[in-house]
Amino acid sequence: MFAELRERVVLVTGGASGIGAGVVDAFLAEGARVVAADLAYDSETLAPGRVGEWTVGLDVRDEAAVARVVAEVWDAVGAVDVLVTAAGVSTLAFAIATSERDWDLNLDVNAKGSFLIASHVARRLVDQERAGRIVFVASQAGKNGYRGMSAYVASKHAVLGVTKTMAVELAPHGVTVNAICPGIIETPMKHRERVEGGALRGMTPEEVAAEDRSQVPLGRTGTVQDVAGVALFLASDLAGYMTGQGLNVTGGMTMH
Ligand SMILES: NC(=O)c1ccc[n+]([C@@H]2O[C@H](COP(=O)([O-])OP(=O)(O)OC[C@H]3O[C@@H](n4cnc5c(N)ncnc54)[C@H](O)[C@@H]3O)[C@@H](O)[C@H]2O)c1
Repeated sequence: MFAELRERVVLVTGGASGIGAGVVDAFLAEGARVVAADLAYDSETLAPGRVGEWTVGLDVRDEAAVARVVAEVWDAVGAVDVLVTAAGVSTLAFAIATSERDWDLNLDVNAKGSFLIASHVARRLVDQERAGRIVFVASQAGKNGYRGMSAYVASKHAVLGVTKTMAVELAPHGVTVNAICPGIIETPMKHRERVEGGALRGMTPEEVAAEDRSQVPLGRTGTVQDVAGVALFLASDLAGYMTGQGLNVTGGMTMH
């Protein structure tokens, strides 16, 4: 679909599951070389996966590990042309019952973790005067409030703040920085949220799923492919004049 993505090196955090896994598949189908980094992988160094794919274990909260993985991708695969940060967590609790531990987990993984890897990729791009693309997976929770999700919502607002700031700082260096703001996407995280969020509100997961569908103007919840297609677009030449944006992929749920 996008010939320019062939052979590009794409680093995807959270690449083992859900949206991140969908992004990995989409870039592999374009002929890109893709490194999937995830807490779920065991190997501390790059391990070969499918053709054109490597996997590596990474906790995005650990700056030393982030620096090590970025350096290894640079040396072994040759730079990072595109970074997609899809590693993320969510916990469900009303604000009056949210623990410090859950607050820290959401902020550490979603906000700090996304920032650290973007910063480490960006410093190498700037040093080497290489163009690049940074695509954060934020959320419509970066633009709205949602019951039971204050820590998560705060973390996603932080990601959009970082998107705008890094976009301004990196623009003179030819690096664009954008965020995708997915709505309700069918992934393991969403399925768990329906169980935990339903329990908070006295609803079954099936009832929450039906409520989810009823809130989407396009009449269905999203797939990981819906999100991955927008990641491809943001990495492509077509999006060269876009930076600092948070693109809603919500079936019309969020329009600002
Ligand atoms: N599913 C949705 O409806 C939805 C909506 C908006 C935004 N998002 C965001 O999309 C991203 C992906 O979510 P998903 O629904 O695919 O979830 P998921 O749980 O299916 O996948 C998340 C992945 O991140 C990895 N991960 C978690 N903590 C990590 C850490 N510290 N270091 C490295 N990897 C770690 C997990 O192992 C997992 O593979 C998240 O940032 C999430 O907030 C999801």
